[in-house]
This record gives sequence, structure tokens and C-alpha cells, in this order.
Amino acid sequence: MGFLKSIFSSSDSASPSPNAISLEEYSAPGMSDRLGTQSRIYFSTDRSIDLYELEELCDSVGWARRPLRKVRKALQHSYMVVSMWEVRGSRKRLIGFARATSDCAFNATVWDVAIRPEFQGKGLGKALMSYLISKLRREDISNITLFADPHVVKFYGGLGFLADPEGIKGMFWYPN
Ligand SMILES: CC(C)(COP(=O)(O)OP(=O)(O)OC[C@H]1O[C@@H](n2cnc3c(N)ncnc32)[C@H](O)[C@@H]1OP(=O)(O)O)[C@@H](O)C(=O)NCCC(=O)NCCS
Repeated sequence: MGFLKSIFSSSDSASPSPNAISLEEYSAPGMSDRLGTQSRIYFSTDRSIDLYELEELCDSVGWARRPLRKVRKALQHSYMVVSMWEVRGSRKRLIGFARATSDCAFNATVWDVAIRPEFQGKGLGKALMSYLISKLRREDISNITLFADPHVVKFYGGLGFLADPEGIKGMFWYPN
């Protein structure tokens, strides 16, 4: 993986300032064949993401809309926010997103994992999750959990996530 910092401006973002995003280049063998040589893919851990762009990504995978003020708050209070960007010339586009909440010591829970449909099936979801996991491991977080929709259990299984380890069940409480 190569490392390259770039700055792009962003308008309605999750944090008031600075209004810029630092990017880290992602390169993997065969990626340019899968995406075309014009495209470059970058990761970012910057949480100053344009919320309208994030909403558009969430729309593209069919998720229900959420109030932007709550999304902004969720990003601000997440322990880690990772995003994936396609850069073509001077244009950048948000193509992937995931975030994790944490107690900052033992546990982290992953939320909102999405890759834009036209970029799915190219290994980018796996790369984004591996990037997030490596960042969490670097912070010595050892217990990483998530809630998988039934159709993506296999996807997370391929990344090493176990369903019901030692019989442990996820339990949920909802207001009536
Ligand atoms: C789930 C999602 C993030 C996967 O991203 P992706 O870029 O398409 O996945 P990748 O191309 O990196 O796939 C990695 C591996 O997982 C497998 N995989 C991906 N999606 C899968 C699925 N839905 N079911 C089973 N396996 C899947 C791939 O075949 C690949 O396997 P391999 O490593 O053996 O080749 C993406 O499909 C997405 O955004 N879906 C809509 C939003 C969503 O459902 N998010 C999860 C909410 S819990």
C-alpha cells in the first residue's frame, strides 16, 4: 500500500473545521485492471466528510434516510471513521464508508459498511474492512463486533468474523 497525502475541500461536513480531507493511496495487485487506469483509490480516516455525499452513498445501497444532524453527531462521536474515494483527475468521489464506535480500550463495534454498487465485487469492501480492522488493532482494540444483515454474513465470515462464538448471542432491546 502506498502513502500519499492530498487535500480536497468539502462543504457540509461532519466537523466544522478543518474543511479538508487527507487521503492515503490504496494500491493492490490487479486493481487498475479492475477499475481502469484512470482511477485511483484512496482511504481516509478524516471525519470531515460531506454529509450529502455520504447520504448519496447510503441511498445508492438502498438504506433508509436518516436525519443529517444525527448522522453528523454519529460521525463526530464515532471512535473511527473510514472512507474510500475514487479520484479521477481533479474529481474525487466517495465510494465506500464504515465507522466504529468504541470504549477506546477493549471493544469496538463496526457500523454503516457500504460500497457504492458499481464498485462492489472488486475487493474494495474487503480492503476497506481490513483497513478499519488494522487501524483498530493498532489502537490495541482486540474485540471487534458488528451486526451483519443476513445477506452479508459470508462477506464478514471471509474477514474472520464469527457468528455466535461459543454460543454467544447478540441481543437487542427496542422501545415498544
Ligand atoms: C457488503 C459490501 C460492503 C461488500 O463489499 P464488496 O466490495 O462488494 O465486497 P468485496 O468485493 O470486497 O468482497 C470480498 C469477499 O466477500 C465476498 N462477498 C462480498 N459480498 C458478499 C455477499 N453479499 N455475500 C457473500 N459473499 C460476499 C466476495 O465474493 C469476496 O470473496 P473472496 O474474498 O473469496 O473473493 C457491499 O456489497 C455493500 O456495500 N453492500 C450494501 C450495503 C450492505 O449490505 N452493507 C452491510 C450492512 S451489515
